[in-house]
Amino acid sequence: MAGSEFSETGDVSSFPRLFSPLQIGRRTLRNRIALSATTTCYGARNRITDRWIDFLAERAKGGAAMLITEILAIDPAALASPSVITAYEPDNEAGFKRAAEAVEQHGACLIGQLWHPGRQQLWSPVFSPKGISDQPDALSWTVPHVMRTDELRQVADAYVAAAGRLKTCGFAGVELHAAHGYLLTQIMSPWSNQRSDQYGGSLENRVRFVREVAEHIRQACGEHFVVGLKMPGEEGVDGGIDPDEAMRITAALARHFDYFAYSQGNFSLSLETHAPDQTFRRCHFLDIHKRIRPAAQGAPVMALGRIATPAEAERAIQDGACDLIGLTRALIADADWPNKARDGRVDDIRPSTYDNFAWGEIHAGKPLAEVHNPQLGLKGESAWQPPRAQSSRRVVVVGAGPAGVQAARIAAERGHAVTLFGASREIGGKLRREAGLPGCEEFLHLIAWMERQLRRTDARLELGLRATVADVLALAPDKVILAAGSHQRRPANFLGEGVSAREWVEGGRTTRAQCVVLFDQDHAAGTYAVADALAKRSRLVLLTPRTQIARQVNYCSAIGIHRRLYAAGVEIVLAAEPVSLGARVLTWRNVFTGETRNIADVDLLVWSTPRIADDALAEPLRAAGLDVELVGDCMAPRNLICAIHEGEAAAMEI
Ligand SMILES: Cc1cc2nc3c(=O)[nH]c(=O)nc-3n(C[C@H](O)[C@H](O)[C@H](O)COP(=O)(O)O)c2cc1C
Ligand code: SF4
Repeated sequence: MAGSEFSETGDVSSFPRLFSPLQIGRRTLRNRIALSATTTCYGARNRITDRWIDFLAERAKGGAAMLITEILAIDPAALASPSVITAYEPDNEAGFKRAAEAVEQHGACLIGQLWHPGRQQLWSPVFSPKGISDQPDALSWTVPHVMRTDELRQVADAYVAAAGRLKTCGFAGVELHAAHGYLLTQIMSPWSNQRSDQYGGSLENRVRFVREVAEHIRQACGEHFVVGLKMPGEEGVDGGIDPDEAMRITAALARHFDYFAYSQGNFSLSLETHAPDQTFRRCHFLDIHKRIRPAAQGAPVMALGRIATPAEAERAIQDGACDLIGLTRALIADADWPNKARDGRVDDIRPSTYDNFAWGEIHAGKPLAEVHNPQLGLKGESAWQPPRAQSSRRVVVVGAGPAGVQAARIAAERGHAVTLFGASREIGGKLRREAGLPGCEEFLHLIAWMERQLRRTDARLELGLRATVADVLALAPDKVILAAGSHQRRPANFLGEGVSAREWVEGGRTTRAQCVVLFDQDHAAGTYAVADALAKRSRLVLLTPRTQIARQVNYCSAIGIHRRLYAAGVEIVLAAEPVSLGARVLTWRNVFTGETRNIADVDLLVWSTPRIADDALAEPLRAAGLDVELVGDCMAPRNLICAIHEGEAAAMEI
């Protein structure tokens, strides 16, 4: 079965290093697992909410030893959105105290991540941009106000005041966010710092500000208060902080920090490496961490970036890459990752697929949501079990894709008598087919996890059978959940032959075509995986009616999509829709002007288009008096999170 890495056995004895204590400053951590800083957008009107606290507390309960909060604004210039929590106002003190108590109660410690975006116009901060030099922000090209020395001193004071507030509220420490191209990176990086005063130029000058902030926090908060630094291991821009410069910076700052965390990229095109998606190999950056670690001179080093399994985490420590493992996406997907690893339930760990959906949500200003963890951030998330139903009902689920499998499992776990019909012999639906595309292999782990969980229930599986109305009626169900999915439609008004992207994938992805046109009226990641696969075989022209591509993909992963398409020589034609294909000539039309053009020597048109729900069973079953609910694409074709969450919601209502 796919997903072998997560189905490996092992418990605390298999991961002795991961579950050994670690001294960070004066604190002893119970194990080596930390939640690396994770923005949730659970704040409201810049205030802490219950969900903001629960997200952290549930991960402490799930066994992580150290939890680093999301970015906390250290002064009004850092107020990037109404969900960003302010650490400079007394109004959040009660919430900070509750968060620290909740985390400590579960045996973990809480670290506040102190943040100032500088020139970075990430979510259009109201009072920013303020920068170290007048270089434009690489993302928005905004030119910041260049801070005078007295303004920099005010910002330094704000860091210290915020740290003092968190200490008073019971936090174990703070982490200065000096990664990802925010203010502190801008100051340390020769790429962005063009100053000629005592804060610019030489390395000594560029680290001065961070050093002064750390020293002042230490003076104000004492030796027992942890002070960590998250900084680039590789900024990924010419003239920026590369691993050699990161080593020099680390060496210069080593005695001022209790730990160092290294991440990659900044908010330029190197952003892609900041949350490396499933197209990157696992543990991509450990070599860099290993190289830099000696410069920390004994201060613990946190490695992070696509570390997925306990075995990978154990290996990273064993190989000397780090002392501490930072996990974000793995712990978003499963708050109980540490406890499950400790207790020998590795195959129970709900794997992240590293699709970056959650990242996209928070960067769109929406609350953190997780593709297949509907309980995310809710009280009771850790060790959650669906409540037993008051009475057992006969439930039939049609469709063994993610929506149907989730519905069937949750309904069965609640005590219902469930039959699941799946047309294919394997569960997973279109996701399984997508998993065969380049860079999509992580989906196999998700499907394997879903299957393992499902097979532990009493649900009866009827796989390889496309259920008919008669099949369903024969079971006399109290409830029918239709999760039969969807299929892609022909492009409107198109004359000629072609296949849908789904059909092409299902047909084994073989083509002898020398030139393929892919009509992209979808913009989701799966379409570009098809493009990657097509471009390996043929000359590829991608047509889209929009003026951009990848509009449904978070902009971190969208960078990789563009990079791969351009590297493969794919021709991208914007504002275009296909009109006809005949005699190897594809005619397309500009959607704004109606002007038509031809592409010669085209062998095949593949379309990825808005889908049609496969809901044909619904009306006959309703007419037969059954209680029928549609979920996922079968209800209205959308994305994976809708499918899984809706499947669960339907099962919870029975
Ligand atoms: C949803 C999400 C939110 C994040 N928020 C922050 C943040 O507030 N501060 C920060 O330094 N890094 C943030 N990161 C980056 C993570 O801390 C981490 O460096 C990165 O995700 C790589 O680790 P992973 O592979 O375990 O996810 C975030 C990442 C994700 C996916
Ligand atoms: S949304 Fe995707 S990338 Fe984010 S934690 Fe969930 S599975 Fe992982």
